[in-house]
Amino acid sequence: MYSSKISGLGMYVPENVVTNDDLSKIMDTNDEWIQERTGIKERRHIKKGDGNSTAIMGVKAAKVALERSKVDKDQIDLIVFATLSPDYYFPGCGVQVQDLLEMPTVPAIDVRNQCSGFVYALSIADQYIKTGMYKNVLVIGSENHSGGLDMTTRGRSVSVIFGDGAGAAVVTRSEDDSVILSTHMHSEGKHAKELAMIGPSTEHWVPQIIEESATATDDDITYYPYMNGQFVFKNAVTRFAEVIMEGLQTNDMTPEDIDMLIPHQANLRIAQFIQKKFKLNNDQVFNNIQKYGNTTAASIPIALTEAWEEGKIKEGDTVVLAAFGSGFTWASAVIKW
Ligand code: ACO
Repeated sequence: MYSSKISGLGMYVPENVVTNDDLSKIMDTNDEWIQERTGIKERRHIKKGDGNSTAIMGVKAAKVALERSKVDKDQIDLIVFATLSPDYYFPGCGVQVQDLLEMPTVPAIDVRNQCSGFVYALSIADQYIKTGMYKNVLVIGSENHSGGLDMTTRGRSVSVIFGDGAGAAVVTRSEDDSVILSTHMHSEGKHAKELAMIGPSTEHWVPQIIEESATATDDDITYYPYMNGQFVFKNAVTRFAEVIMEGLQTNDMTPEDIDMLIPHQANLRIAQFIQKKFKLNNDQVFNNIQKYGNTTAASIPIALTEAWEEGKIKEGDTVVLAAFGSGFTWASAVIKW
C-alpha cells in the first residue's frame, strides 16, 4: 500500500471583479445585507469575450500546480475534474483538460458532487495512488457560476453568493512524511432538491424549458439554481462538524491538533460557527470568501492555494479540508503536510 500527497497547488480567478455595489445596480440588494449574511465583499465573474470557461480556468490553475509540483503533464496518469457548471452537458470537462494540455490519452473522471466535489476528487486520487495503479493524478475544481445565475431580484438570495474560479492540485505518490492521512465522504439524497438546479435535464428537457419559461411563475424556475438557504445552513453546520470530527477521530486527533482548517467557502457565518464550536483561533482557519464568494468545487483548492502561498501551511502541519453542499454531500480530508 502506497501513500499520496499534494505536491503542487494552483489557482486562477477571472480578472473581472464584481462588488456588492455592482450587484445592487442590477438587482434589489445591498452591500450591508450581503456582508452581514455571507461575509462576501466581492467575487469574480467571467466577462464575455475574456476567453474563460470552466475547463479553460481549470487548465490555467492546473498549469500553475504542475509547475510547482515539478511533475510534467506527460507524467500525469489520471485527471479528476470536479464541477457543477461544466462547459457542456456532456462530455465533462476532464476530457477538455486532456486536450487543452495536450496530454497523452490518460483517463479523465468527472465528479458531480458540487461543493464537496474537490474533496471527493482528492479521495479518488488518493485511492488510485494508494493501490499503486497510478503515481500522479491531476485534480481540478472549477466553476463558471456567473454563466447560469438569475441576475435579477428574483434570484438575489442565490446569485449574490456565487463566484467563478478554479483551483488545482497535483497528487503524487509520497516518498516522505507528507501524506493524505484519510478522506471521508457522505451523501443524503433525500435533500437533493433543497439545493439544486433541476433543468436542463432529462426531467426538464430544453424544448420543455422554453415552453415553461413563457409561463413560468416565480416558484417554477427549474433552470436556475434553487437553494433553501436556512435549511442548507442548518444542515451545513451539523455535517461540517460531524465530518471534521470523523476525520480527526480516525487519526486519533482532537481539534487542538488542527494547524489549518480549510472549510469550503460556503458562507463566512458557517465557517465562524465551526471555528467557535471547535474553539479554533483565527490562525487555524482560512477564509477568503470575502474576495471570491462561494466558488463551489473550486473554493477549497483556491483557499488551500492562497493559504499555502501566504505561508500559512508549513511542512509537518495537520491540514483539514471540509465541505458540505448540494446533494446533500459532505466530506473531509486530513493531511499531514
Ligand atoms: N439582498 C437583499 N435582501 C435579500 C437578498 C439579497 N441578496 N436575498 C434575500 N433577501 C431578503 C429575502 O427576500 C427576505 O426578505 P423578507 O424577510 O422580506 O422575506 C430576507 O432577505 C431574509 O431572507 P432569508 O433567505 O431568510 O435570509 P437568511 O438570513 O436565511 O440568509 C442566506 C440567506 C445567506 C442564503 C442564508 O440562508 C445562508 O447563508 N444559507 C446557507 C447557504 C449556503 O451556505 N449555501 C452554500 C452551501 S452549498 C454550496 O456551496 C452549493
